[in-house]
Amino acid sequence: MLKNKNLNNFKKKIFNKKAKISIMGLGYVGLPLALSFAKSGYYVHGYDIDNFKIQSIKKDNSYISSVSNYYLAKYKKKFKSSSNINHVENSDIIIICVPTPINEKKLPILSHVKDVMDKLSTIKVKDKLVIFECTSYPGTTEEYFLPFIKKKRLIIGSNIFLGYSPEREDPGNKKFSLEKKNIPKIVSGYTADCLSLTRLLYSKISNTISVENIKTAEFTKLLENIYRTVNIGLINELKKVSDKMNINIFDAVNAAKTKPFGYQPFYPGPGVGGHCIPVDPFFLTWKAKKLGIDTKFIKLSGQINDQRPKLITNKLNRYLIKNKRYKNIKCLIIGIAYKKDCDDLRLSPALKIIDILDKSKKYKINILDDEISKKAKSNFNKFNFISKKKINKKNLSKYDFCLIVTDHSNVNYEIIRKYSKMVFDTRNVYKKKYRNVSLI
Ligand SMILES: NC(=O)c1ccc[n+]([C@@H]2O[C@H](COP(=O)([O-])OP(=O)(O)OC[C@H]3O[C@@H](n4cnc5c(N)ncnc54)[C@H](O)[C@@H]3O)[C@@H](O)[C@H]2O)c1
Repeated sequence: MLKNKNLNNFKKKIFNKKAKISIMGLGYVGLPLALSFAKSGYYVHGYDIDNFKIQSIKKDNSYISSVSNYYLAKYKKKFKSSSNINHVENSDIIIICVPTPINEKKLPILSHVKDVMDKLSTIKVKDKLVIFECTSYPGTTEEYFLPFIKKKRLIIGSNIFLGYSPEREDPGNKKFSLEKKNIPKIVSGYTADCLSLTRLLYSKISNTISVENIKTAEFTKLLENIYRTVNIGLINELKKVSDKMNINIFDAVNAAKTKPFGYQPFYPGPGVGGHCIPVDPFFLTWKAKKLGIDTKFIKLSGQINDQRPKLITNKLNRYLIKNKRYKNIKCLIIGIAYKKDCDDLRLSPALKIIDILDKSKKYKINILDDEISKKAKSNFNKFNFISKKKINKKNLSKYDFCLIVTDHSNVNYEIIRKYSKMVFDTRNVYKKKYRNVSLI
């Protein structure tokens, strides 16, 4: 039993960075986290079922744009990876970072978590600290781990420790990142000792904020993303009103944000994407329904945000009809990742826009997005990708219009404006009025 002396030894091991860490799931969350711990001095083993990722790490080939090959190579000695679950057994700490998506009916899919539990049931987990980092409804960690721990005949807080610490990674954000150690980490544990071990571990890579229990930490993560979803939904709805009134909503938001208290700016856009904003709020909707509560704000903002791609393509259609352009319309879609300076395409509104345009069979679609990896581009062989190096007067003049969906920093928007017939801008890239630029 890991009581008193043994618990203190475990703490010392974590404190002195002698504890070995396994990270299960090496995606947008797991890979940067693994490197953060490696950088801080821990030995980290990464486990993933995707062999492409394991091979890429071995070759110092990062598959995430916010993680450089250099960073990967630098911590090579401290960070190894494999698809062998037995290697996880050699660790003192196991951190779980697998996907938690929703289905088309917006219901939780926890099959990856279930798969992790099945894998863990094949190895010894006694005396380890297990931390769940995935986003899901409050109660998930306990629902999945307690029966597993009972089956293993272990006692939480005594010979196994359970923690939850939601990830706040914002891929592409150059100001706040795990690497910069400036995103405080919410930590929680099943017992006081579980919390103290979890807090101690994360204090080595960031500031920690302890909360009362695991469910509160799970709720906190959802609250953060629900706040964004609802406010983005609100501003997307207000954009419809301001458009009818001939008011530039970006000007209004920028004016409102000068108020030094009580207002936080959110901007309209093409809709929401990624693995968080369109997904996480619906975990709470699902759980609340079980408790007889209808989360109306979440559902409404989800609907408004989901409508944006269709509203945008309707506007494009009206413009083209007005200009008597009915077929063979050439367009350049600029930025297809779901957010600025990131390579993540998951649930990106650009994909919905491209799909609607493509299905109408009127468009010849070219795409400009140099953030997207070669591998991801190969899934779009129907469309032609052009690089920012090919953005010039001759090439731009052939498009009926350009549509800026995601405003990556690495694009020369001035050249685009100068040589395009028409630019539709979902992000207010230009800030000023131009004859051939329309906010959409
Ligand atoms: N991406 C973000 O910005 C972000 C931010 C905060 C929280 N989250 C949450 O973090 C979790 C992970 O998200 P992500 O964006 O890193 O997902 P991801 O899809 O980028 O990565 C998940 C990884 O887990 C691997 N995996 C799947 N099943 C596995 C299994 N059974 N065993 C081992 N590996 C397995 C996948 O191959 C993949 O490499 C999710 O719960 C998500 O909601 C994500």
